[in-house]
Amino acid sequence: MVSQAQILQWLQIFASEIAENKEYLTQLDAAIGDADHGINMERGFKKVMSQLPTMTNQDIGSILKTVSMTLISSVGGASGPLYGTLFLKASTVAALKQELYTQELLDLLQAGLDGVLQRGKAQLEDKTMIDVLSPAVAAFRQAVAEGKDTVSAMQQTVSVAEQALENTKPMLAKKGRASYLGERSIGHQDPGATSAYLMLRSLLQSISNGELEVGNN
Ligand SMILES: Nc1ncnc2c1ncn2[C@@H]1O[C@H](COP(=O)(O)OP(=O)(O)OP(=O)(O)O)[C@@H](O)[C@H]1O
Ligand SMILES: [Mg+2]
Repeated sequence: MVSQAQILQWLQIFASEIAENKEYLTQLDAAIGDADHGINMERGFKKVMSQLPTMTNQDIGSILKTVSMTLISSVGGASGPLYGTLFLKASTVAALKQELYTQELLDLLQAGLDGVLQRGKAQLEDKTMIDVLSPAVAAFRQAVAEGKDTVSAMQQTVSVAEQALENTKPMLAKKGRASYLGERSIGHQDPGATSAYLMLRSLLQSISNGELEVGNN
């Protein structure tokens, strides 16, 4: 079970992870893109944090919708509309909800992934955030099928995501600016896959904090 408070905490943790890793994300994008991924993400999540006071009493769907609108309106480039779509699709699954069962969190993550797939038209191994999100959602689905609780399922998901992030290094980029480099994109970790990994790790951290209701999934 994930509470509304844990969703708010997720956003705060992700925003601070983005701020801490702004240079790192930008360096990764400097190698295969235009050196703005950290800047883009930090701008967007700083804006999201400024909206936090308006979110405290909202349901999870409304919170995620606000995140989406904020990202779409404040972040340019590919990542703004893509993360904006992820949060928009996720918000529809969480409409009017104050908490999410493990299965609902799975539906939310799947909806977010589907949104990015529809919007960006990337396929697996194109060297994008999809290469982290897709195996991560599959891992979460499998953990849920095995009857794992939310935290254990998310732990499994984050370790799969970590390996999936590493796996973006040898890939040849086929989407965005990185694709212009062709073979020269090989050997570099994808910036968007990196921020997607941070997003999942932040979610694990938020749901691990204050998870006192043992056995309640
Ligand atoms: N079509 C796509 N589908 C999914 N993710 C994508 C797509 N295009 C780019 N990305 C992701 O966006 C990241 C780059 O985000 P950034 O904030 O730097 O925007 P950008 O500079 O406009 O991107 P790009 O140059 O890749 O179009 C990439 O590392 C990749 O993970
Ligand atoms: Mg860029």
